[in-house]
Amino acid sequence: MLVLGIESSCDETAVALVRDGTTVLAEVIASQADDFAAWGGVVPELAARGHVASLPGLIERVLIQAGVTLDALGGVAVGAWPGLIGSLLTGVTAAKVIAQRRGLPLAAVDHIQAHLAAIHLDRAAVMYPLVGLVASGGHSHFYLGEAPGRFQPIGGTIDDAAGEAFDKAAATLGLGYPGGPQIDARAARGNAAAMTLPRSFLNDDTLRLSFAGIKTALLYQARGPLGKDPLRLDARGIDDACAAFQTAVVDCLATKLLLAARQRGVRAIAVGGGVACNRALRARVARDAAMAGLELYLPATKHCADNAAMVAALGHFQIARGEIAGADLVPLPTGSAGPRKPKKTI
Ligand code: KG4
Ligand code: ZN
Repeated sequence: MLVLGIESSCDETAVALVRDGTTVLAEVIASQADDFAAWGGVVPELAARGHVASLPGLIERVLIQAGVTLDALGGVAVGAWPGLIGSLLTGVTAAKVIAQRRGLPLAAVDHIQAHLAAIHLDRAAVMYPLVGLVASGGHSHFYLGEAPGRFQPIGGTIDDAAGEAFDKAAATLGLGYPGGPQIDARAARGNAAAMTLPRSFLNDDTLRLSFAGIKTALLYQARGPLGKDPLRLDARGIDDACAAFQTAVVDCLATKLLLAARQRGVRAIAVGGGVACNRALRARVARDAAMAGLELYLPATKHCADNAAMVAALGHFQIARGEIAGADLVPLPTGSAGPRKPKKTI
C-alpha cells in the first residue's frame, strides 16, 4: 500500500510517499527554521502562513519525484496532534480533501508516536516488544512499544523536553535557534570536564527525567548567580559549556533508556525525535546497546527531525489495523500519545 504522508505540526512542511510503512519512494520538505532564527523561536502565525504557501507545491513535487499520480495511493496519513493548531490545520485540511475526493482511507497520526514509527523506514524487520525514547523540542518520554505504531508511555521528563533544554542552553550561551545543532557542533571542540553540571534522578530506579536543574546550573555558571550578567565565557569556554551540557543531557537520556529496557525485559531499544540527531547521543546509545546486547533502532537523521515519511509509516500501520479517521477529523494542539479517535471541539 502506498501512503501519502503530510506533516505540518510546527515549522516544517513535509510530504512523503511511503510503501508498506517502510520504503520511501519520495519525500520533500520545506523548513522555515532559517526564517525563525532571527526571531529566536517559531512564530505560530508565520509558521501557519508558511504551510499554506508551501504545501500544494510540495504535494505536486513528491508525486513527480516518485513518478506516480494520486491514482497510485492506497491511503493518506496526516500528523493531527500535537502541534501548533494553525499549522496543523493546513496539513489536516489538505489530507482530508485528498482522502475524501479519492475515496481513500485517512489516518490521523500522533506526531510523537510517528517519531518512533520512523524506525520502520528503510528497515525490513523490527523486533517487538521494545522500549523507545522520543526526544524532541516539545517532548522527552519513554514508551513501551508492543507492535508497530502501538506505544504506551512509561516515563519521561517532569519539566523541559530535551530539545527545549538544548534550545534554552544555546540561548544562555548566546548561540542561535535552534540550539541543538549548534551545541552539537561546538561540543565536539569542547572539554566536558571543564564545567560541572548536575544530573537529576540519574541513579534512582524511576524513568523520570528533569532538565531544569542542568539548565539553571549552566545559566548561573555562564551568567552569574542571578543568571543575568553578561556572558562570562570566551569562545573556548562556550565550547566547553556546550560539551558539559550535552554530556549531562545525553547521560540522563541514555542511562534511563537502558534502565527502561532492563525494567521491561525487552531486547530492543529505539530513539527518535530531533534530539536523536545529536551525534553524542547516537554514539552513546550505540555503545550502551552493544554492551548490553540490545538491538538498537536509530532512524537516519533526516527521519529523526520532523518529516512526513514517519507520518506515512505510522499511518500505514493504523490503516492496516482499520483505524480510519472520519471526515469530522479536527487537529488538536495537545493529545500526545492520546486517543486516536478524533475529538470534536466546540
Ligand atoms: O522532533 P523535532 O524536529 O521537532 C519537534 O517535534 O519538536 O525536534 C526539534 C528539536 C529542537 O529542540 C532542536 O534543537 C533539537 O531537536 N535538535 C537537536 C539536534 N538537532 C535538532 N538537539 C541536539 N542535537 C542535535 N544535533
Ligand atoms: Zn517532532
